[in-house]
Amino acid sequence: MNPTLPGAPWMIAHRSMLGINKPYKLTLNGQDYVLWQNRGGEIFALENVCPHMQAPLSDGWICEANNTITCPYHALEFDGAGRLLKDGAAKGEPLADKLDLVVQDDLIWTYGGHEPRLPIPDLISTQIKGFRFLGVAGNKSIQAEFLRCIKINYDFNHQNGVHRELFRIQANLVELFEQKGVAARVVQTFLRTENTVNEILQNPSLLTLPKQIKNELEYSFPSTTIFKAQLPLGKVLQVFILYPEAEQRTRTFVLFYGNLQSPLFLIPGVKAVLERSLLDSTAKVVEQDVRAVADLYPAQKPKIRLPKEEILLYVEQLYRNW
Ligand code: FES
Ligand SMILES: [Fe+2]
Repeated sequence: MNPTLPGAPWMIAHRSMLGINKPYKLTLNGQDYVLWQNRGGEIFALENVCPHMQAPLSDGWICEANNTITCPYHALEFDGAGRLLKDGAAKGEPLADKLDLVVQDDLIWTYGGHEPRLPIPDLISTQIKGFRFLGVAGNKSIQAEFLRCIKINYDFNHQNGVHRELFRIQANLVELFEQKGVAARVVQTFLRTENTVNEILQNPSLLTLPKQIKNELEYSFPSTTIFKAQLPLGKVLQVFILYPEAEQRTRTFVLFYGNLQSPLFLIPGVKAVLERSLLDSTAKVVEQDVRAVADLYPAQKPKIRLPKEEILLYVEQLYRNW
């Protein structure tokens, strides 16, 4: 395939997604890779193809003693540099191809073997100061090309349709949109009506949402969209990540951070229930976006323009002028 945005930094996983000594398979720009993390926190990545007879290494297992991945077919072992284990030691030239990673603050980035054209953004590191990582939500493949998937993250009119039922958003007042190169920022306020009792029972985190939610979006094209809001219970911050798996398939996941304080948290279990529920509603938001994007008919030139759609032209230009 033609790689999407070659040279862009892609965040392919948060450390917590890998587990310990377990193969983790992912696809970036048409190529499969296997990642694993050892008990010491070192992270390795190889192309997923065994150099012997092309078995998928991700179906194999990690040998903790040798710090290697074992192929599921004939059980040959390779270290993180792709070297074959012989007589108890990995030596010689690498045979399996390695994927170069940059690990920063538990975030795993890669250029997918391309020459870097943008630095790895420090947006997440600067924004999450003072927050606690609560988990990953909505790790999904979207059956759609990258441009369509990224556009929904920049489209601040879609709340009124796509997320209407979940949050009962009636209107979204956009106060600010500014952009500089690949960085952009939006300040907006969602106006909501009450949820029904049934909706609240199914999703207790809805109780934490006020009628007006002032919130901000910070963008670092093309991988990262940060949503942050001040709720009565404290601050929440979601990092929406995208990377291209194939020409018509895009991966998304959300890193959820919170800085929540409430006297209610003195009651055992309340905090855990609330955090779980916040992660669940984030997963629901992602599902709604995924469905909305995957269901679109083939692209045409829009015959209607909504107010404040300039941000969509901005992101489309970044993509097309890459
Ligand atoms: S195919 Fe991997 S060891 Fe043979
Ligand atoms: Fe959305």
